[in-house]
Amino acid sequence: MIKDPIHPHLAEAYKEMASHSTIPLWEIYHLLVAFEPKPMGDPHLWRYKDLRPLLLDAGQKISAEEAERRVLALKNPGLERPGIAQTLFAGLQLVMPGEIAPAHRHTQGAIRFVLESTGGYTAVEGERCTMERGDFITTPSWCWHDHENTGDGPMIWLDGLDVPLVNFFGAKFAEENETDQQPIFRKDDDSEKRFGAGLRPFNGAEQKPFSPIFRYPYATAKAALMQLAESDTIDPAHGYKMVYANPNDGGHVLPTLSAFLQYLPQGFETSGYRSTESTVFSVVEGQGTAIIGETELTFDENDTFVVPNWMSFKLRADTDAVLFSFSDRAAQQRLGIFQQDT
Ligand SMILES: [Fe+2]
Repeated sequence: MIKDPIHPHLAEAYKEMASHSTIPLWEIYHLLVAFEPKPMGDPHLWRYKDLRPLLLDAGQKISAEEAERRVLALKNPGLERPGIAQTLFAGLQLVMPGEIAPAHRHTQGAIRFVLESTGGYTAVEGERCTMERGDFITTPSWCWHDHENTGDGPMIWLDGLDVPLVNFFGAKFAEENETDQQPIFRKDDDSEKRFGAGLRPFNGAEQKPFSPIFRYPYATAKAALMQLAESDTIDPAHGYKMVYANPNDGGHVLPTLSAFLQYLPQGFETSGYRSTESTVFSVVEGQGTAIIGETELTFDENDTFVVPNWMSFKLRADTDAVLFSFSDRAAQQRLGIFQQDT
């Protein structure tokens, strides 16, 4: 039933239409088609210094096994359902020393960005991917994954998933492995060594719709970023920014998710940018301010903040700053709906 119709004199006709499971499009057209999108959800920042104690406390109260995944989900205060943005899920995950988060797989694709580690790995499709601070790990759709902390301190990372997107399509499936740890049949960090040096095997494996690299180490990514800063002029809207690429085709790491690393020199302020993607930032190094619409958020190391879709934002670096980010740009570009505005 249409509440407060634009054409109230047609209300009786609308009742009859509704009884036949139809709706007059002219009453709802403005809700479906608009000159430009509305941002969904709020700009928001989660401080690591506030969340870390909560996570460690949960570490004392519930085991990784009991929890299946011990994650503090970052819920956007401006959205009804769980999710950091309309299309993205994010959370901070903790695995304590000696613990294993058991093997499972699901159709939702995931990325991880490591905040703290004294030793550990994520196993993906028969391969252990080392997790050191700043490493970027992918677990594409329907790939088996389990996590183990082999160090003596807590292992904490930012999880990013396409849960809202996949669930919107009604395509959520999941499966638990028979054993806590999946069988390992590849050498440790095999995919990174095989594909991560700017070469790929001549007789390459079958190409899948995601990057064959599951681990992008921070040392390599940061070196590439700083090299770019030495040899290129700075981009006014993005600073020095690189995209984690699929070596097979130069595309994004997952069909739904894109990931980036950017360097903002001390004192630099980006000129302002907006796009239809929703973006989650994780502060790897440094301090600064994100100005998102009318909201100013100061950020520090390991903080997470979200820029909703179609919201103009600027980043200001108070010190040299390195930011990791992920977004749904990959999905939007594949669907041909991505738009941006500088
Ligand atoms: Fe998972």
